[in-house]
Amino acid sequence: MDGKSRKESAYVEDRAAATGLTDLIFSVKEEVGALAKALKLFETKGVNLTHIESRPSRSNDRQYEFFVTCQCTNGVINDVVELLKTEMGATVLQLSRDKMTADASGSSEKVRSELPDLSKTAPWFPRTIRDLDQFANQILSYGSELDSDHPGFTDETYRARRKQFADIAYNYKHGQPIPRVEYTEQEIKTWGTILRNLMDLYPTHACREFNRIFPILQEQCGFREDNIPQLEEVSQFLQRSTGWRIRPVAGLLSSRDFLAGLAFRVFHATQYIRHWSKPLYTPEPDICHELIGHVPLFADPSFARFSQEVGLASLGAPDDWIEKLATCYWFTVEFGVCRQDGQLRAYGAGLLSSFGELKYCLSDKPEMREFDPEKTGVQPYPITEYQPIYYVTESFEDTKTKLQKFCDQIPRPFVAKYNPYTLEVEMLDNKDKILNHAAKLKDDFEILREAVSRLCA
Ligand SMILES: [Fe+2]
Repeated sequence: MDGKSRKESAYVEDRAAATGLTDLIFSVKEEVGALAKALKLFETKGVNLTHIESRPSRSNDRQYEFFVTCQCTNGVINDVVELLKTEMGATVLQLSRDKMTADASGSSEKVRSELPDLSKTAPWFPRTIRDLDQFANQILSYGSELDSDHPGFTDETYRARRKQFADIAYNYKHGQPIPRVEYTEQEIKTWGTILRNLMDLYPTHACREFNRIFPILQEQCGFREDNIPQLEEVSQFLQRSTGWRIRPVAGLLSSRDFLAGLAFRVFHATQYIRHWSKPLYTPEPDICHELIGHVPLFADPSFARFSQEVGLASLGAPDDWIEKLATCYWFTVEFGVCRQDGQLRAYGAGLLSSFGELKYCLSDKPEMREFDPEKTGVQPYPITEYQPIYYVTESFEDTKTKLQKFCDQIPRPFVAKYNPYTLEVEMLDNKDKILNHAAKLKDDFEILREAVSRLCA
């Protein structure tokens, strides 16, 4: 170890000892599974990550930058840094709020000028729908990389199949049709088993919006037991219905990236199906969860607006707010329950795509609480078991209004608005933009007034 490295280690150990946290920025070549590979190195050394952020490098368009906060014991982080450098050729910076102390290969000042100081700038967010191309591949797992407790872990055929789906998502760019997939007989059988079990429950357990739209999907998009619908056809259906569209994704995105997609009415969906050996269980979202659980409600105008609001609120929001919004998303879009005609009904995709939890959520076992973003947004929840608590909403409009009020507290100097004509997010952050928006609202109000007067004539 040279003198410089000893100095770096001393700093990192001091900071870790003082706070238990170390911040790192590292820059790696953009390639399939780069983030997953890097995360594996942290996992190998038992380092817990409390925060991950990613963005394309501003100085090299073939590189990707990651900003992570690690919780670790003294010195362990130095091992990870060495692994990042040797295994991935990464450029690594270790930083605190007020000083940057190290780089991988020479001049600290040189690298500082090449990489942005993420601690002093607002988090990057996409401004146009094409910007989603920039983070769609920054996923937390990739293709055939399955955990050892995954039902398909020892099945080489399944892992190879997962890699094919991952490659489709990796190569996808906005504006392209989503490639068609010929699903195998075994895959179709798995889909059919899931659909058959769930459909018996929908009349008594699903919300009325779901039960209104599902038959349309059966008719127009081939939601049948003997057919797995194609993402492209479903995406076109959604565009005709509410302007939502689907974008294929190979695995889990970070909360910030996933929520940002919602702002553009883009839903990142997986295209692979769970392992055939356990048709009623999946440790991760698959096409059954996406198409059966999520898609029907994205075709409902009120739910579509609510979901987009969550996304718009997330743009440029600080990390603690991303966490609160992601938690509200969890308890609504994923596991929401609503009250309709005095009865509880499920509208969350995690419920509508799970035979077991759909029955359980309306039993007397879980606790029901009223949706209140202040409290719901900080409620811890389990990921791998049924939810002990569900939050009940009265209507999607009511939920949207509550969420909008809650989001008024987000500390950012603009309001984000989506322009459906240009597919861009506009920031209402100066007088001209606000006046322009007011003029459009005035036009809309005139249309409304005229429509009401004709209706009443
Ligand atoms: Fe989901």
